[in-house]
Amino acid sequence: MRVLIIGSLAGDLGQAARIAIARGARLDHADDPEAALVRLRSAAGVDLALIEIAHDVGGFIRALGRERILLPVIACGSTADAEAAVRAIRAGAQEFLPLPPDPDLIAAILEAAAGESHALIVRDPVMSACVRRAEQVARSEASVLICGESGTGKEVLARHLHRRSRRAGGPFVALNCAAIPENLLESELFGHERGAFSGAIARRIGKFEAADGGTLLLDEISEMDIRLQAKLLRALQEREIDRLGGAAAVKVDVRIIATTNRELLAEVAAGRFREDLYFRLNVVTLAVPALRERPGDIPALARHFAHRYAEVNGLPDRPLAEEAVRRLLLHPWRGNVRELENAMHRAVLLADGESITAEAVELGPPRVGQAPGANGAMPAPQGGGSAVAALVGRSMDEVERDLILHTLTHTLGNRTHAAIILGISIRALRNKLRDYAREGLAVPPPPGASVPVPVA
Ligand SMILES: Nc1ncnc2c1ncn2[C@@H]1O[C@H](COP(=O)(O)OP(=O)(O)OP(=O)(O)O)[C@@H](O)[C@H]1O
Ligand SMILES: [Mg+2]
Repeated sequence: MRVLIIGSLAGDLGQAARIAIARGARLDHADDPEAALVRLRSAAGVDLALIEIAHDVGGFIRALGRERILLPVIACGSTADAEAAVRAIRAGAQEFLPLPPDPDLIAAILEAAAGESHALIVRDPVMSACVRRAEQVARSEASVLICGESGTGKEVLARHLHRRSRRAGGPFVALNCAAIPENLLESELFGHERGAFSGAIARRIGKFEAADGGTLLLDEISEMDIRLQAKLLRALQEREIDRLGGAAAVKVDVRIIATTNRELLAEVAAGRFREDLYFRLNVVTLAVPALRERPGDIPALARHFAHRYAEVNGLPDRPLAEEAVRRLLLHPWRGNVRELENAMHRAVLLADGESITAEAVELGPPRVGQAPGANGAMPAPQGGGSAVAALVGRSMDEVERDLILHTLTHTLGNRTHAAIILGISIRALRNKLRDYAREGLAVPPPPGASVPVPVA
């Protein structure tokens, strides 16, 4: 996890930086937003920025947007300056971190930004076979395609493969093709030259160059649009890339691992995925089994997560009762390892005795319309099963609001496109956005607007 700190390190911010380092973060520092932008253009590996509210946080976030740099921004400052904190959040900062910093809060922010840890736990023979296959091909230069249902551990396996490869000393860079709007994806992958588009005031290095000498993980490769697929194929064949607006190609030495939870051959048949790219990527396939196909992993994974979340939450590390393990073994895991991870996180928080008992292990009800099979096996979810499960516990209004705002971000503020995707009228969308703006939420501005305007 690489964190860019923007502001003076002399005071409380320096303290926050020291805590972040103690929690395993690597630090970059810039005195002000201008210097930060200079760093970001040449370093695509930064995961998170912490910026003091004394600086123009809104201006910084808008500059990131203009230059197509995707980066979560955390504003920090004294709670005494509530107005600046509110301004920062309205401008699009992800969180506000009060100073002087609370170590647990910093740990939680880093945890949320890093998302997930990378240890690979394996006990079940079916999964062991998959990991062995990964280790066998790790030292070659072959492209690898990892497929498997959502939440089965495709990224964890990709990182393991990188650690066992000759490139282990080089960078591991991940990019989720599904999470990034099409026009940003190209710039994220290949970078851009000054003047490539109206906000491109300086050269910026993309993920390909950031991964030079290492491994580039392209997550959910099936979601990449067909035009970019052509550019990716060229990059793989020629071992060089063209930055957006660049005149000369740049040599890159990158190994590609791609993941998909769709049947890629079916995408090829449907004309949505280039066949030549498919064969280029798919020198070796690793199929990660679903958690229900490897029950032998469940107890070890559960203990691993119990330990990890006790640590993250500053709670004692307690053993897992036998009853609890039995309960976990009987559950039909639709959301795979991620669902187990969430269940154990909850259990760690809910358990109040000497051990984590079966009562503390709350497991969601089976999904409507999909009863478990006779042997407890579930039909493969049509993608996103775990995403729906993760919504349990939230209200319809909240989920609707998040869906609308995320869709709007995805369409870069384009109201018409967002309304079509959401299946509602533009008028209904505008009314919702007006309500959100009144509640003080940051609503993505329409394309071309220079400042956030709540209503189109
Ligand atoms: N074998 C494993 N050992 C330890 N943790 C694991 C393992 N497999 C998965 N996890 C954990 O489960 C979560 C999901 O794993 P990961 O992100 O690798 O899955 P994925 O298949 O890439 O998911 P998605 O389809 O959503 O991209 C992560 O928090 C990861 O740390
Ligand atoms: Mg993944």
